[in-house]
Amino acid sequence: MVHSYSAAQQKKLIVFDTTLRDGEQSPGCSLNLEEKVVVAKQLSLLGVDVLEAGFPICSIGDFEAVKRIATEVAPSMEGREKIGKPMIIAGLARAVPADIKRCAEALEPAPLKRIHIVLATSDIHLQHKLKISRDECVKRAVESIQLAKTLCDDIEFSPEDAGRSDEEFLSFILGKCIEAGATTINVPDTVGYNTPEEYGRRVKYLIDRTPGSDKVVWSTHCHNDLGLATANTLSGIQNGARQVEVTINGIGERAGNTALEETVMAIHTHPTYYPVFHTINTKQLCSSSRLVSSLTGSAVQSNKAIVGHNAFLHESGIHQDGILKNKSTYEIITPETVGANEVSLILGKHSGRNAFRQRCKELGFASISDQALQKAFTDFKALCDRKKSVNDSDILAILAC
Ligand code: KIV
Ligand code: ZN
Repeated sequence: MVHSYSAAQQKKLIVFDTTLRDGEQSPGCSLNLEEKVVVAKQLSLLGVDVLEAGFPICSIGDFEAVKRIATEVAPSMEGREKIGKPMIIAGLARAVPADIKRCAEALEPAPLKRIHIVLATSDIHLQHKLKISRDECVKRAVESIQLAKTLCDDIEFSPEDAGRSDEEFLSFILGKCIEAGATTINVPDTVGYNTPEEYGRRVKYLIDRTPGSDKVVWSTHCHNDLGLATANTLSGIQNGARQVEVTINGIGERAGNTALEETVMAIHTHPTYYPVFHTINTKQLCSSSRLVSSLTGSAVQSNKAIVGHNAFLHESGIHQDGILKNKSTYEIITPETVGANEVSLILGKHSGRNAFRQRCKELGFASISDQALQKAFTDFKALCDRKKSVNDSDILAILAC
């Protein structure tokens, strides 16, 4: 396998963020409508290519959130000059007509939209969950893609539990999905079972064997049950995937999904090692992380790669000595690259509204409305009167109210 690619050989990596769908499925991570809109705006600034905004049939709240994001956030080009287009807004649907129609309805206002259809393909799921044969599975997949295609050009198909599905059957059904009009084929390791070699080999097998595979974008979707989600995703890229499905801070079902920040920075720090380049605004990574953490209430572990509190701290004497002499001795990424150093102003009771707005921006609330800012500023001043020092956690708590 080649491990050095020239710029001309590299393809753009499509970053599909599912923080608001798979991420929001984490225990205790649910977000209200306003919070979802705030996160979606930040993800647009971050440079996400495809935003999975929700699962419209699953609740009125999800439907409304997808629709609002499709209306208010989808057209935005702010900070996306390098990318040259707004985010594609995706909604999830099971392979049933009601889901697909509801999804299309919610996505309708978005300039660029995608229906994402999921149907399990592993024998375990077919026998025990869906109680259908492989033939019925193929029929449902094809018919649902054909229906979705009448409502939207951009269709993604996800064979749920692909990581444990029979490869020959997987290749057969995916060939039929491509023939029916799917434009992206995802390879979900739904239960986080695969190892990097296994997952990469599976992606390669499918790309090599599936009829029409050159007409679609292949995508990774890895869960972190064995702590291998990022490694599996990178292995998928080395083996032909050109889209990655990820979440901020790696939040998601059980042990979570692949972390966006880890995948992007692995590629960023190895600019010729992967057959892809990314267009993420890396300086927005830490503020995106803080925003998602504060709104979901899901704390980021302090030693978390890229966005953890300790990610750029040096404690031991030997390391500190090295850093003082030359940062490259112990830093493979500068804090500035990921926006980890953005604490520019110390805030207290004498601070003004502009400084407060700037801090909100640094904490990930770049798109806060004037009205919400005014309320937060008033609460901040009141807190300054009661507390000697007001820190970022206090401000985040105010902003999350
Ligand atoms: O893990 C999974 O299989 C999913 C699908 C909807 C892609 O989240
Ligand atoms: Zn998933």
